[in-house]
Amino acid sequence: MKASDMEKKKVYIETYGCQMNVNDTEVMLSILEDAGYEPAETMEEADVILANTCSIRENAEQRVWGRIDRFRLEKKKRGGVIIGITGCMAERLKDKLLDNHVVDLVAGPDSYRSLPEMLRNVSPDNPQINVLLSHEETYADIVPVRTDKNGVSAYISIMRGCNNACSYCVVPYTRGAERSRDPKTILREAEDLFSRGYREVCLLGQNVDSYFWEDPESADGNVNFAQLLEAVAKISPDLRVRFSTSHPKDISDEVIYTMAMYENICRHIHLPVQSGSDVMLEKMRRKYTREWYLERVRKIRSVIPDCGLTTDVIAGFCSETEEDHKATLSLMEEVGFDSAFMFQYSERPGTLAARKYPDDVPEETKTRRLNEIIALQSRMSLLSNEKDVGKTFRVLTEGTSKKSEGELFGRTSSNKVCVFPAEGHGKGEYLEVEVVSCTSATLIAKLKQH
Ligand code: SAH
Ligand code: SF4
Ligand code: F3S
Repeated sequence: MKASDMEKKKVYIETYGCQMNVNDTEVMLSILEDAGYEPAETMEEADVILANTCSIRENAEQRVWGRIDRFRLEKKKRGGVIIGITGCMAERLKDKLLDNHVVDLVAGPDSYRSLPEMLRNVSPDNPQINVLLSHEETYADIVPVRTDKNGVSAYISIMRGCNNACSYCVVPYTRGAERSRDPKTILREAEDLFSRGYREVCLLGQNVDSYFWEDPESADGNVNFAQLLEAVAKISPDLRVRFSTSHPKDISDEVIYTMAMYENICRHIHLPVQSGSDVMLEKMRRKYTREWYLERVRKIRSVIPDCGLTTDVIAGFCSETEEDHKATLSLMEEVGFDSAFMFQYSERPGTLAARKYPDDVPEETKTRRLNEIIALQSRMSLLSNEKDVGKTFRVLTEGTSKKSEGELFGRTSSNKVCVFPAEGHGKGEYLEVEVVSCTSATLIAKLKQH
């Protein structure tokens, strides 16, 4: 055998989309490492170039098309390179991605165990595709290869898929039916991370509140999300626990009380509202009303007064009126979110909204409304941060700040980013800091002297 045959093939994966996709990339790397591949830092050194993609909005897909062009250039330059699309776009577009030999391999979110085999068989004349969705696959036994680089905070997927049918959303089509992962494997993964020096885990699911593990032996072994959260929190008081995403219709009092009971469960809930108008919420099939949402917020704040609250908002959904839009602004003002992800509605082919409701809010109106939402949120974020000036927080440091080597950054329990002078400290430490000033995005602090 020639020496070159012994060399490991290198795989480069570029990741788009949500935290769950980031974690899926880590799962893929683990599967591929077991099959003898080695991760590549850049596409120029890779034998296999994969894009793990997102379909949530049209511009997310547009970005990937741009990258595919770039990958193809690389393939032309070097030959022999394999290009693959994985994730949500692979699932949505299926064999259309193989037309005109655009890519060599298409692998949907539930097919990653077959990647090594697909890569063994692939050639320009023999493109590979696996877009089967599964009712069982949770990759429960796979130990993800961490790509976080900081060694402090890691994602753990606790479930896959989504059983909701929000009318605008492509996720149920690209990720399939909801299934929960065996809690034993989740705990094992969290314990393992803690023993390797990690100090924070973020439990991921499209709707974590509907996590449910049914024990076939006895109902005593059944585990809901609050119980899972508690079990992870009990691993160590020095292991912080976060989670995302909570659904306003499903977040239970039990979860809120469990958060209050354990200091290491971070005081932060990401609770996407989407719209403040009942007419829009109904059309979006979110299955809650504005009043229900506000009641959940009141409940959270009555039990956990210092709880950080963040949200997602969609501007310009089908037939949204000026009045609907104003209702979103007034809800945002009423709640006073700490931060928000804000989007302009993007019609996704095949969704209920695309089939049933015309995408009739003019582009300029969508943009104007989105800008009003962003402007309001940035005022609210600043207000929220200003309230923290003078307060002391325990932050977990994640690394040196982007701006200066002499500064560290970390997060408060409420998930606010905090920057402060390092003074000899490093990442992965819990430090007490006092906030001295802020911007709308960051708390600026100093170390508390003991
Ligand atoms: N499971 C989460 C959200 C996942 S998608 C939840 O239900 O809250 C993340 C965010 O993308 C959504 O909260 C929504 O605000 C936004 N989004 C989803 N589909 C969209 C679309 N078609 N156009 C614009 N934004 C969209
Ligand atoms: Fe999409 Fe709704 Fe499921 Fe979230 S809950 S992933 S918005 S369908
Ligand atoms: Fe995007 Fe798929 Fe996540 S569509 S947001 S990568 S579940």
